[in-house]
Amino acid sequence: MKEHLIRLHPLGKEIQVNHQTPLIDVLHEYGIEFPCGGKGTCGKCKVKLLDGSIDVTDFHRKKITEKEYETGWRLACLSHCTGDITLEVDQFNHLILADESEYEYVPQSGYGIAVDLGTTTLVAQLVDLSTAKVLAAETMLNPQVKYGADLISRIQACVDGLESEMTQSIRQAVGQMIGKLIGKHDVPVKKIVIVGNTAMQLIFSGDDVSPLAAYPFRIKDVGEQSFSGSELNWDFQILEKVQFFPPIESFVGSDILAGIVATGIYKKDNYVALVDLGTNGEIVIGNKHQMVCASTAAGPAFEGANISMGMRAVTGAISSLHIEDGQIHADVIGKTSAKGICGSALIDAIAILRRLERLGQFGEIQSGEEKINLFEGVKLSQKDIHEFQLAKAAIAAGLSILASSISINMSDIDELYIAGGFGSYINVEHVIETGMLEVEAKKVHKMGNTALIGAKIFLFNETNVVSEVLSKIRHINLEGDPNFMDIYVEKMQF
Ligand code: FES
Repeated sequence: MKEHLIRLHPLGKEIQVNHQTPLIDVLHEYGIEFPCGGKGTCGKCKVKLLDGSIDVTDFHRKKITEKEYETGWRLACLSHCTGDITLEVDQFNHLILADESEYEYVPQSGYGIAVDLGTTTLVAQLVDLSTAKVLAAETMLNPQVKYGADLISRIQACVDGLESEMTQSIRQAVGQMIGKLIGKHDVPVKKIVIVGNTAMQLIFSGDDVSPLAAYPFRIKDVGEQSFSGSELNWDFQILEKVQFFPPIESFVGSDILAGIVATGIYKKDNYVALVDLGTNGEIVIGNKHQMVCASTAAGPAFEGANISMGMRAVTGAISSLHIEDGQIHADVIGKTSAKGICGSALIDAIAILRRLERLGQFGEIQSGEEKINLFEGVKLSQKDIHEFQLAKAAIAAGLSILASSISINMSDIDELYIAGGFGSYINVEHVIETGMLEVEAKKVHKMGNTALIGAKIFLFNETNVVSEVLSKIRHINLEGDPNFMDIYVEKMQF
């Protein structure tokens, strides 16, 4: 069978596919969402044809405007690959590129690179410092995933003696992304700013990770770290330096420091919260006078782990659920039959089952059965529901303890920002219905990759803003709060 090449911009990825392969079948693996399940109704799966051609049916033609059509936009869910093509992916532009003008900056000469070192994904953007424009972006899977998907297994691998190997592999991966960015634009890079969670930072810099393996998880004060390109074994030239911004404390890393700067919490009059939902949920609440932060072990339920039919957001995963005429309907990634459920739909499932009164206040399945059938044989067990309760209680209890530590109520919070890739896909109303976020929906804003936005701000404004944030923020050890257990148990209820 004939094969074709699909090039994805701005990711720089190349995919080999068979003739007539539906784009929906391959693009979802690169994180592209198909919110209406590929019916052509939501318009969210747009791709721009930069090179090659795509056959467009009459139905497809009606779903895009004249202007969109003329400028090369197509709906990926209605397209097949019949030749080599290069696509600009609109969703990636939003996720990776479109945040370019959301901060104030003082123009300066030269170019900089901002890097977010995520546990799963690495992202780097090349920025023109005279305009704050993002010229190119690169992402790749963190090569450390082979040492385990979550932070705890990475930390364990370090403790088991693999840290220097992991340090080399992460430095090499970041170097590769930066090398590609420089290769594409051939510009001299003045500085590089890196942010990431504390474990990623310690591994990158080659510092001892073992304090994160045991209570009280207190790391030595690493501060802001600077490296030269040659120290990192990078063979391209950096005019000034590579900076890794400082973690706040224990599991609250420089990615959250960057998030605070991106959301501007430290200069707000009113109370603002930032929540990064993940296995390790990080939370900040505060304003220009004071801020408190904490990390809370939410567990892997949001990533679909420890859930009997849980899976990551890949083909066959139910990505969202809604009710229509009293029936549960699902969107399945890749339009195939449902194989399991990912984190965003798990939240939907719980909210819907509560609404349908199929779950009681303590999460008990009202029918007394061990499992509830959600959609096409994908079921949720009593244990799965309990796993979700543990995760949502960790976030809700964390928020509640942080709020009372600065003598405010959750209702005093005027804005709540949800950070991170997972946060971009959740249904806010459903999250609130589960009791995870005890604020009104209108106060909740999804902000995407706040770590990367913050890293870009750091490219322009270095230490002043960091010392201001660090002087105003206090880390709270949630488990050390005498009321933690009581609050946690209470928040497990619906
Ligand atoms: S238009 Fe909704 S997924 Fe393509």
